[in-house]
Amino acid sequence: MPEINNEVQDRIIIGTEVFVPLLKEDVIQERIKQLGQQISEEYKGKVPVFIGVLNGAFLFLSDLIKNITVDCEVDFFKLSSYGDEKISSGRVKLIKELSCNVEGRDIIIVEDIVDSGLSMKFIEDLISPHNPSSMKVVSLLIKPNSLRYNVKIDYIGFNIPSKFVIGYGLDYAQKYRNLRSIYVLSE
Ligand code: IMP
Ligand code: MG
Repeated sequence: MPEINNEVQDRIIIGTEVFVPLLKEDVIQERIKQLGQQISEEYKGKVPVFIGVLNGAFLFLSDLIKNITVDCEVDFFKLSSYGDEKISSGRVKLIKELSCNVEGRDIIIVEDIVDSGLSMKFIEDLISPHNPSSMKVVSLLIKPNSLRYNVKIDYIGFNIPSKFVIGYGLDYAQKYRNLRSIYVLSE
């Protein structure tokens, strides 16, 4: 069987663009372990619902909940905003609704990355009217210099520069989500 080489590569070339490693697999996994411990500690005695934002957050959510030691549930939203572009369209569309009832529950929204904050604002506005008992947000990445909306990210994996990144769930025109490390567009 042919094998896909998914080791850390020095660079990934996509057309005329070059991506270089920003966060390697072991660094990502170590930070997720810490986040998992912190969240588990803070939710002792509760049964939080982790709500992943598809597609980008699927890898992060699966690795995160492996590090959660309290009982928990999982659900997903699906949003679309970027299309095949590297910059946000400025519009968010709900493609898949939640299947769980959030009323009275402790909700933890799980995002891959917060850029302008538009998607997060959209999700918060969607969930709040359903009266969760509490709502917090965990994002693996945040681009603090790109934030345009007033959103509070309670748990942050890494602050990164306002540059386009791929890998570990994050796509470029739907590809490269399967990379184990995160790569940044070099200029
Ligand atoms: P926001 O709504 O501007 O905060 O953008 C958030 C969404 O855009 C994320 O959930 C990602 O799906 C996507 N996104 C933002 N920045 C990047 C990036 O650098 N690479 C890939 N996707 C990104
Ligand atoms: Mg996302």
